[in-house]
Amino acid sequence: MNIDILLGLQWGDEGKGKIVDALSPVYDVVARFQGGPNAGHSLEFNNVKHVLHLIPSGIFHPDKVNIIGNGVVIDPAVFRKEIEELGPSIDELTKRLIISNRANLILPSHRILDAAYEHQKGNTKIGSTLKGIGPAYTDKAGRNGLRVGDILGKDFMDLYKEHLNNHLAILKNYDFKFDLKEYENGWFEGIELLKRFSIVNTEYYIHDKARKSKKMLAEGAQGTMLDVDFGSYPFVTSSNTISAGACTGLGVSPKMIGEIFGIFKAYCTRVGSGPFPTELFDETGNSLRNIGHEFGATTGRPRRCGWLDLPALKYSIMINGVTKLFMTKADVLSGFKTIKICTKYKVDGKECLEIPFKTNAAIEPVYTDMPGWEENISGIKDFNKLPEALKRYIEFIEKETEVPVTMVSVGPDREETIYRK
Ligand code: GDP
Ligand code: IMO
Ligand code: MG
Repeated sequence: MNIDILLGLQWGDEGKGKIVDALSPVYDVVARFQGGPNAGHSLEFNNVKHVLHLIPSGIFHPDKVNIIGNGVVIDPAVFRKEIEELGPSIDELTKRLIISNRANLILPSHRILDAAYEHQKGNTKIGSTLKGIGPAYTDKAGRNGLRVGDILGKDFMDLYKEHLNNHLAILKNYDFKFDLKEYENGWFEGIELLKRFSIVNTEYYIHDKARKSKKMLAEGAQGTMLDVDFGSYPFVTSSNTISAGACTGLGVSPKMIGEIFGIFKAYCTRVGSGPFPTELFDETGNSLRNIGHEFGATTGRPRRCGWLDLPALKYSIMINGVTKLFMTKADVLSGFKTIKICTKYKVDGKECLEIPFKTNAAIEPVYTDMPGWEENISGIKDFNKLPEALKRYIEFIEKETEVPVTMVSVGPDREETIYRK
């Protein structure tokens, strides 16, 4: 039971990066288990904001080991840029970060394929971050992928060319213009940089640490509603973002999992296409976006905003086996006179507690209204000092979900975190 998991329960951007960074002091190892540079995990300390895409959010703690697990897909160009902009020297970072030899590589041509597929889809596009995620996982599942361990072989360039030619052959069928050189920019330099890091069977490393009773935190990317099996398919990402994904993405048994921390925003956001039952198209939605600075950490796109969706939250809790809930961005709701919570859906006029299979189902959210609060809560450190109305909002969520809310985040800084005793 040495491995706890922290994952998003909504459509991503719940504040995973901030919380992983805040929790890192109590862990020895922090490991990413899925996704890739589509993720944008922000964390803040000493008035500086950092955005991580591939690197686990424990990286700023010098005494922790961070792992990029086998379930992640790595773009060497993004990796290089991220490492170079992080702050600590590369020599120092090689001590803090190890990489699975089984993690699949995102090739420049995967990014071109991603763009070509989205272009072809037109109005039905997924709204992908265009980081090559879908094509890279497609090649992985199709047993055509290149893996990080392959970069150490003498035949790597031959393998690269073989894969590139396969992709170029597919691209001939698409009316999509591209400049390969532009996409290859920085990729080979990234491969050279990757070679300076320990590229190992991280599953052995993790099991060795578990035997020595070291504590590990598995950091999820995206959110449960973007899971390739349980999200609003096809408007999802291409990996298993759920707790089970931590087992396959790191090579650990379910028996080794301890706590499963489910993180959710006090309201909801989504980037890209797909159903979003509580989406607000009015001034309230704009206010949530402006007050919460809801613009994508990876693409800068405005996030769609809406009220908290309990049927979706309960579904995520069920699929993941969440043991503790963490609520983020509670401060953003300060000043709203009334706060709405969606407690059930109406689909075709009939009440429904389940997530409909069809993504084009006409879902009408049924709301319960709760009184808001005026106070600025960002400086509060003690749960009991939170406004009564916010405590009632939290109680309502706990009653509905039957899971305790044990942490409330009231600002982006690592310090703006309330741990409930
Ligand atoms: P992630 O992908 O789940 O790590 O989340 P993102 O970093 O993409 O988006 C969360 C955004 O909210 C970031 O800009 C964070 O700095 C910010 N944030 C996190 N927690 C809080 C909070 O409690 N209050 C406020 N106001 N901002 C927060
Ligand atoms: P973090 O880890 C929010 C969304 C995209 C798109 C869909 C598929 O920061 O929470 P992809 O690039 O995977 O092909 O995109 O998933 N998406 C995210 N939305 N946060 C993320 O990551 C996301 N990663 C992908 O917007 O709708
Ligand atoms: Mg994000």
